[in-house]
Amino acid sequence: MSLPIAPRVLLCLGLLAAAACGSLPEDEPAPTPYDGDGPDAPALSSDFGCVADYRRVGGLYLKNVLGLTEQAVAVAESDGDWHFPVGTIIQGQPNEAMLKRGPGFSPETGDWEYITLDNDGTRTVITARGTTDVQGVGQTCAACHAPAGDQWDYICQDDHGCEPIPASPVLFETLRSSDARCAQ
Ligand code: HEC
Repeated sequence: MSLPIAPRVLLCLGLLAAAACGSLPEDEPAPTPYDGDGPDAPALSSDFGCVADYRRVGGLYLKNVLGLTEQAVAVAESDGDWHFPVGTIIQGQPNEAMLKRGPGFSPETGDWEYITLDNDGTRTVITARGTTDVQGVGQTCAACHAPAGDQWDYICQDDHGCEPIPASPVLFETLRSSDARCAQ
């Protein structure tokens, strides 16, 4: 089913949702290499989907590709000293994700890989992935998430010290609720 006009226009206007306006790229970047010897979860685009199908804790949508979703939920429900298990995927909206890689993967980012995504309602593609080099709105993902620090495992939410993003919660809700992958 194609999107009704209004949400598609809104998606097109959204800075973070270029796919609604054009075709998806065919090629995806390879997972950022991991040199450590712990468990790792490089995750592919097929691991990402409709955020409404993830577990929701407050403003976080999360799951764990190594079967540790309950442990990840327990971390998000705790009062601080957050450290998510390897394999955790966290999203706030459909086109940006954080993926917890193996121990020692990237000390600067708390072992998170930052990922941008696009979808056409059926197919999901990874458009960029990396650590301190992935660009967000105005600055890198990592620079803006850094103030949340180790205490919150670099997860910003709205009260962990990060500079707010120039988009309203209403836009995010629209992006989530008009994600055509959710209806399938
Ligand atoms: C200008 C600062 C800024 C930039 C740049 C930024 N973020 Fe965020 N991000 C935030 C804030 C603030 C939130 C919390 C939004 C909320 O829920 O109120 C957030 C939320 C998130 C979340 C949900 C978990 C959380 O931290 O609350 C993910 C996942 C995420 N961002 C990924 C990314 C990715 C990937 C990039 C780069 C492509 C990026 N962000 C760039 C500030 C930023």
